[in-house]
Amino acid sequence: MDFERELAEVEATFDQRLASAESDADVEKIRVAYVGRSGELTRMRRSIGKLPPEERPAAGQRINAVAERMELRLESALETLRARALERALSERVDATFPVPTRRGSIHPIRRTLEDICDFFERRGFAVVVGPEIETEYHAFDALNIPPNHPAREGFDTFYLPGGLLLRPHTSPMQVRTMQTHQPPLAIVTPGRCYRRDALDARHSFAFHQVEGLVVAEGVTMAHLKGMMEAMCRELFGPSQRVRFRPSYFPFTEPSAEVDTTCPGCHGLGCRTCSGSGWLEIGGSGMVHPNVFREVGYDPERVTGWAFGIGPERIAMVRHGIDDIRTFVENDPAFLQQF
Ligand code: DAH
Repeated sequence: MDFERELAEVEATFDQRLASAESDADVEKIRVAYVGRSGELTRMRRSIGKLPPEERPAAGQRINAVAERMELRLESALETLRARALERALSERVDATFPVPTRRGSIHPIRRTLEDICDFFERRGFAVVVGPEIETEYHAFDALNIPPNHPAREGFDTFYLPGGLLLRPHTSPMQVRTMQTHQPPLAIVTPGRCYRRDALDARHSFAFHQVEGLVVAEGVTMAHLKGMMEAMCRELFGPSQRVRFRPSYFPFTEPSAEVDTTCPGCHGLGCRTCSGSGWLEIGGSGMVHPNVFREVGYDPERVTGWAFGIGPERIAMVRHGIDDIRTFVENDPAFLQQF
């Protein structure tokens, strides 16, 4: 093969190999193979001796020119690889400080109301305790002075589970659990989810929340209960709220009362929210029944106590002007983003 053609071929294969180099190491291998001391160009230089003497100087110059081009291409190949690596690194790196425009989450209105209620009582020295959603019939009913076959059991429309268990239809069982493990004086609130076999409509849901409160000590009276309910309503709805007690019946309290507060929508004048009455029912309450005290081993001659159970769904609906309880659980972002 003549010298010119061979040199052209060497340069061509060099270019080909360099084009498929994927790393600095590949480039280095090519450098050694072509411009290295025992590489292709050295081999070509050695073959100059075989050429006629008059062609030798020109052949030497061609090889030098090829060597120079090769050096330049090796450099630029390294640069291309470096640029590609940087590009890859930038695209893969997660910059935790980069300001990404995200939508901030917000606290669900039910949780907000639960937290506001618990917060009110915590600041007054109450402990916040939570209990199981799967309860025993004993804690949910028997210990609360609702024996088997008592008509009040029917009123709770309970979801029963096998083995004497149930989904708690109210948070009152935590009164029993707390008193069984703690001695008076005590003051607790216990928020949580409850379940009843209610048909779903704008005002009822089979899953809802309650906040239960319980105070037991010597000399506790219903006046304390009413004062506490009024202060809570003023914090939740506004400073001019009033509270009224309506006589009621619960097996675990005597006397018992429904707790109403002036309708915050109309300030007692009567509107759609309060069905024109000017009052809004927020829950039940009363003085702890002596039978409940006896059941947990407290002496009803020594201590008295009051309890309440209020519905945060109702409170959240009135606070935020929500007219359908189902919207709380539908997970519609358009609804939730308002809070
Ligand atoms: N547990 C009752 C219910 O779900 C509400 C209630 C009434 C709770 C009076 C109480 C109470 O602690 O004293 O209907």
